[in-house]
Amino acid sequence: MPRSQKPSAAPLLPASRTLDALRDAAAGCQACHLWQVGTQTVFGEGREEAKVMLVGEQPGDHEDVEGKPFVGPAGALLDRGLEAAGIDRSEAYVTNVVKHFKWKAAGKRRLHQKPNAEEIGACKPWLMAEIEVVRPQVVVCLGATAAQALLGRSFRVTQQHGQWADWPHEPKITATVHPSSILRAPDAEAREAAYAGFVADLTVVAAELTSS
Ligand code: URA
Repeated sequence: MPRSQKPSAAPLLPASRTLDALRDAAAGCQACHLWQVGTQTVFGEGREEAKVMLVGEQPGDHEDVEGKPFVGPAGALLDRGLEAAGIDRSEAYVTNVVKHFKWKAAGKRRLHQKPNAEEIGACKPWLMAEIEVVRPQVVVCLGATAAQALLGRSFRVTQQHGQWADWPHEPKITATVHPSSILRAPDAEAREAAYAGFVADLTVVAAELTSS
């Protein structure tokens, strides 16, 4: 690839736009270097007719091993928050902006590394295709990486969470904090406050889903 050309999964998108076809094509994705870093592509999971799509940053250590999104500690907290807000995860579609785990070794541990703009841009065609196929009523960005990938770099989750944002696509879109940020809160009080805010944001989504 010429140095000036940005990596992109776009040429790998299959002509047949179904989740199965997308998942199969994404399994062999080498659009950016992260295929050499993660164990496998972790594609989105859930119903093709889902009314709500939840978008995280990238698979973590557990997800990388299991090949499914949000199955580790952040996933457990996501499940708890969804249940508290009255959203059934089995009715949702759950995915990530970046489909490979980016990490660096720290002894025996694999430490999460934030994906950069080039990696996000390379992977974004998969996410846009998932949105196009699932056609959810609502997209929920979990954390700043997802929100800024879909809504632009100036989006601030801290200020704009729980509000409907403008974007040029059909589903309504909103953002809330990433469940991992709740787990990282410095103490129990901060954790409880962050979790309460997370559930409040998801409750706005639940109300939208039941209003139609
Ligand atoms: N964090 C994410 O953003 N996505 C996952 O799938 C797991 C943890």
